[in-house]
Amino acid sequence: MSNDHGNLIKTPKQLIIVSTLALVVPVGIAILGAQLVTGNKRVDPAEAKRSVEARIKPVGELVKNEGTPPPAAPVAVAAAAPAKAKSGEEVYQTACTACHGAGIAGAPKTGDKTAWAPRVAQGVATLYEHAIKGFKAMPAKGGQTALSDAEVKAAVDYQVAKVK
Ligand code: HEC
Repeated sequence: MSNDHGNLIKTPKQLIIVSTLALVVPVGIAILGAQLVTGNKRVDPAEAKRSVEARIKPVGELVKNEGTPPPAAPVAVAAAAPAKAKSGEEVYQTACTACHGAGIAGAPKTGDKTAWAPRVAQGVATLYEHAIKGFKAMPAKGGQTALSDAEVKAAVDYQVAKVK
């Protein structure tokens, strides 16, 4: 029964070595393979801490700000204001000419010096106030409440200039 054709394992010692290798080699390859995949991703612990802190940090911070003036209010005001204030003539054409163009409802007609003379004599501050806040049949801001005070004043200046 001697059958040693091509049989490399001839002694029990060889059998043990071969079986051990058969077990150890694949496991070793698996470990090496795993290290190859994950090994490069090892991060420096300090870096890892920073990156975790960056990810879990709160979205906002309450800053107590004593002594320093509040930041840049004018920027917010500028952002909220309309793109460009209308000129006196533009405001007049959109908001005032309906009554003042033809002298409707007792409105002093634009360009009518006689009608405007006593009104201008009150002083421009009064005219501004009456135009902004309203005066008898004259509605506040000509009814265009979206106009700024400055725009209404510009329209008054425009009317006053027409009777000079
Ligand atoms: C709905 C009609 C109407 C519109 C629109 C109107 N007004 Fe008048 N306004 C009047 C009338 C009426 C008077 C006269 C009030 C009075 O003295 O009895 C008047 C008077 C005035 C006076 C004189 C006030 C005074 O003290 O004598 C000014 C200034 C004036 N308006 C400005 C304006 C401006 C600026 C606008 C546009 C933003 C405007 N008005 C839009 C009706 C109007």
